[in-house]
Amino acid sequence: MPRQAEPAAVHDSLVLEPRDVQFDWSALPLHWIPDEPMATHTINVLHLLLPEGERWFVKVFKDALPMITDEQLREEVLGFIGQEAIHAEAHQEVLDHLLAQGLDPRPYVRQISWLFRRVLGDKPGLTAAQRRENIIERVAFVAAIEHFTAFLGNWALNSPGLDRAEADPTMLDLLRWHGAEEVEHRSVAFDLMVHLDPGYLRRLRGMLVSGPLLVHLWVRGTRFMLAADPTLKGSVRPTWREAQQIARRGLLPEPTRMFRSALRYFLPGYHPTKEGSSSQALAYLATSPAARASAGH
Ligand SMILES: [Fe+2]
Ligand SMILES: [Fe+2]
Repeated sequence: MPRQAEPAAVHDSLVLEPRDVQFDWSALPLHWIPDEPMATHTINVLHLLLPEGERWFVKVFKDALPMITDEQLREEVLGFIGQEAIHAEAHQEVLDHLLAQGLDPRPYVRQISWLFRRVLGDKPGLTAAQRRENIIERVAFVAAIEHFTAFLGNWALNSPGLDRAEADPTMLDLLRWHGAEEVEHRSVAFDLMVHLDPGYLRRLRGMLVSGPLLVHLWVRGTRFMLAADPTLKGSVRPTWREAQQIARRGLLPEPTRMFRSALRYFLPGYHPTKEGSSSQALAYLATSPAARASAGH
């Protein structure tokens, strides 16, 4: 997956539109990458984290709206809010389907809900200045997380291994539609953070908190899913070595590649438009079965 540079014009002319997609999960097998429970459940962690996480993004960005003094950025933030709200609901439906298949995701989701609502939620009793500071700090966390969602989106759009393994086509479309929109709106959170606080320390802190937290949640989530899968009964135990081997088969992003990508976030000249390709994202959205159905094709 090479890093692609593209003309700024492609990105600058984007208008972010929420696409009101629908997916039918009734035929989704529990192991939607056939015979690959660990790869399936490692990717399934997305469904555990994203509904609560993306609802939290929406809340943070709505809180930040009155602080924006640039009209174009404000439009982009509104587009971002619309897209993330739909993403959250699309992943929520997969969670509901897992429960119907006998895999109960609720104990883990309760922990995630507590994290986003209590630990990272609104703090009561702040002064106006403290509240502004708190909102900017949370925007910086979102900006760092959006670096990873764009990385993962770019991976999903460039993952022929999943096609070779005959992964479920509806799930592939969900991952690639969502991934394409993550690539499409990858600079919004970063631009909002810089608009509210151009200081490097803010960016640094956002990644130093969000990066390790995300890895921790992912490892725990994968362990949880493998233990909760009624067909496995705890027989598959995830290891980093196994994850590396699965990544080599093209079914997961390579952890080292992801780590190197996170390091690029610290470069002084970093900007999200240097990662991934808007043209490729738009090309996928033009062919995605769910996105085309929502556009009335
Ligand atoms: Fe999203
Ligand atoms: Fe996003």
